[in-house]
Amino acid sequence: VRVYFDNAATTPLTPSVKQAMVAVMDDVYGNASSIHNEGRRARTVIENSRKTVAKHLNCSIGEVFFTSCGTESNNTAIKCAVRDLKVTRIITSKLEHHCVLYSIARLQERTGIKVDYVEVDAQGILDYNSLEELLKQSENEKVLVSLMHANNEIGNLLKLSLVSEMCQKRGAYFHTDTVQTIGHYLFDLTKVHIDFLSGSAHKFHGPKGVGFLYINNDVQIHPFIDGGSQERNMRGGTENVIGIEGLRQAIDDAYIEYDMRRAHTSALKMAFAEKLTTITNGAVDYNGVSLEEGLYTVLSTAFPNTKGISVSGGSACSSGVESASHVLEAIDPSDLRKTVRFSFSHLNTMDEVDYVINQIETLL
Ligand SMILES: Cc1ncc(COP(=O)(O)O)c(C=O)c1O
Repeated sequence: VRVYFDNAATTPLTPSVKQAMVAVMDDVYGNASSIHNEGRRARTVIENSRKTVAKHLNCSIGEVFFTSCGTESNNTAIKCAVRDLKVTRIITSKLEHHCVLYSIARLQERTGIKVDYVEVDAQGILDYNSLEELLKQSENEKVLVSLMHANNEIGNLLKLSLVSEMCQKRGAYFHTDTVQTIGHYLFDLTKVHIDFLSGSAHKFHGPKGVGFLYINNDVQIHPFIDGGSQERNMRGGTENVIGIEGLRQAIDDAYIEYDMRRAHTSALKMAFAEKLTTITNGAVDYNGVSLEEGLYTVLSTAFPNTKGISVSGGSACSSGVESASHVLEAIDPSDLRKTVRFSFSHLNTMDEVDYVINQIETLL
């Protein structure tokens, strides 16, 4: 038996996504930049996908650009904001994904921009007063606020509308990494002002190697990847037509089945937590905000180092060596508990929850 509870790392393709991709593999081989029939068919696939993404985000199609992944989308937003929008100060947090943190660190090294980190409390909750204070201090500067919508390790969610309003009030650009929430939460970009937002298909049952960047119409940047005139001159490189078709089917399915998927996945997470608390006699803690408030897909469990419970893992490992999580370290460097992240999808079942709980019980 294999049980896959690592859906925050990536999700399996659903059959309908695979089917849509296979149909394109079989029939659509043109280059979308060619003007003959084969090329136009590839173009149609791409534009349908763009239309679908725009529909689900409630934005215009001209604001959606396909990329190779969430990492590229975040790199593009942050690096182009500094290069093209003349941003001189970035406000972010230590809990961001490495593709955001390292993009910013590289810019800081090379261009000398100022970087500030919003304070976080013991649960990893951002201090919005600290953000307000930092925004106030930088009134005469061009500022980019880069804060993730949901944290991939502990599942904390950002108050997106609040941060958007704060940025607007102070004239700051707002970039948000929504890689963990696209396809899992509803978006309406006519209601909340965001300058850059990023998504990655493999986090919502689409293929790996394709993502998108939403760039607000009011914002003008130049390409991050120079080349041909693809993506309306914004991102050179022959488009990943098969991947873009997979992204279309995946985002469409995610929102068509939204209520069902969300209810089922939340129920798995809550049941898992309840059972885990029971079998450990309450010895296990949960990182981040309360179970109800956090991402319904992610459960970050913290096992005490005592009480005879020995587990490990929970953060990225390189060549078998456990390295500490930068997220948990930023929250509390003295925390010695062992964290294991369980993350769920609508493809998981309650039987799998019971199976894993039983397996954990044998280790206690
Ligand atoms: C919050 C967050 N941002 C960015 C990424 C990077 O996305 P991708 O794997 O598509 O490059 C991930 C996933 O790895 C993520 O969880």
